[in-house]
Amino acid sequence: MQKPVQLKDGVYWVGAIDWNVREFHGYTTSSGSTYNAYLVRGEKTALIDTVKAGFFPEMLGRIESIMDPAEIDYLVVNHVEMDHSGAIPMFVQRAPRAKLLATDNGIKALQRHFRMDLPIQKVKTGDEIALGNKTLQFLEAYMLHWPDSMFTYLKEDCILMPNDGFGQHYASHHRFDDENPLETVMDEAAKYFGNILMPLAPLIPPLLKKVKKMGIPIEMIAPSHGVIWRTHLDKILQAYTDWSTGVAQDRVLVIYDTMWQSTETMARAIAQGISEAGVENKLIHVRRNHRSDIMKEVLGAKIVAIGSPTINEGVFPTIGELLIYLKGLRPLKKKGVAFGSYGWGGEAIPAINDALKGMGIEVIDPGLSVMYVPGEDDLEKCVQLGKKLAASF
Ligand code: FEO
Repeated sequence: MQKPVQLKDGVYWVGAIDWNVREFHGYTTSSGSTYNAYLVRGEKTALIDTVKAGFFPEMLGRIESIMDPAEIDYLVVNHVEMDHSGAIPMFVQRAPRAKLLATDNGIKALQRHFRMDLPIQKVKTGDEIALGNKTLQFLEAYMLHWPDSMFTYLKEDCILMPNDGFGQHYASHHRFDDENPLETVMDEAAKYFGNILMPLAPLIPPLLKKVKKMGIPIEMIAPSHGVIWRTHLDKILQAYTDWSTGVAQDRVLVIYDTMWQSTETMARAIAQGISEAGVENKLIHVRRNHRSDIMKEVLGAKIVAIGSPTINEGVFPTIGELLIYLKGLRPLKKKGVAFGSYGWGGEAIPAINDALKGMGIEVIDPGLSVMYVPGEDDLEKCVQLGKKLAASF
């Protein structure tokens, strides 16, 4: 077992590494994940969050290598989702004097999750708990990404512990950002944002402003998943500012499914037109790419072209699934277009257009449909559509 890792004097990572998780409520976690819990030792001791239930022994072992868990005074519950709270019933058995600290919504969620008597104390924004030479300060982060969500700030050490915020599903035996390949970590942070936080993105800039207004210096951001930010804080904070305000690249994603390669042939011709116009683009076959990976790409691109054959008077089921997922995640400031082949009805194009408009994506062309198999003239229209997209930034 990896030993606890010290963040600062008296502050330790005591969480768990989940090397093998590959699915997280519909999100592929190809790099695994970590469940970060932090032990803060002043004259009193607080544990910040726990871990997924099955990882309790791993967390407990790390705590026991530092102190007797029975002497822990507080458990801060920043978020009640099971990957952070699952170990609570076992933890309270081993730390009977620990008082749980949670928001009002956190208390309700704890009661609904565990249906057991827990010693809970409510905390709200601005409240502080003095541990004796260390102070915990709380900031409610309503709907980031659950109603109960909360950030904890460790005043003397200038460490922000924002739970899911700034996290990544990324397993590594290194705990800090500067010990891991930054591009990979940023990629996982983008995927995390695109799949978990994007629908709530408008809440992020006001929260970041509130943090700034509180005038709290931040030397470390210690999230509940992935690496701890101690060196590249500017980079992740800038990325969150960009992602939460819809800043993206001049880039077109051509996302499609295909029955007999007609829609795929169209997709390639559209991409050719975009490339000929000198604009970056990517072809994404929805059955070759998981929707959670596609969302990371959507986060970073300004335009999406969605292609589907017409089947049973509508869109291909995989495209329907993608559109539902996309709608729920509410991407900001995107433009879009529909294309696809059909045999007789051609209902897929209007269905995609309606879906795009319904989720606030600006439809920049009525769309392009081709009967059965595209000929030379059809493919030229696809190339021209690609050029039109490339000129639409
Ligand atoms: Fe990492 Fe919302 O749980």
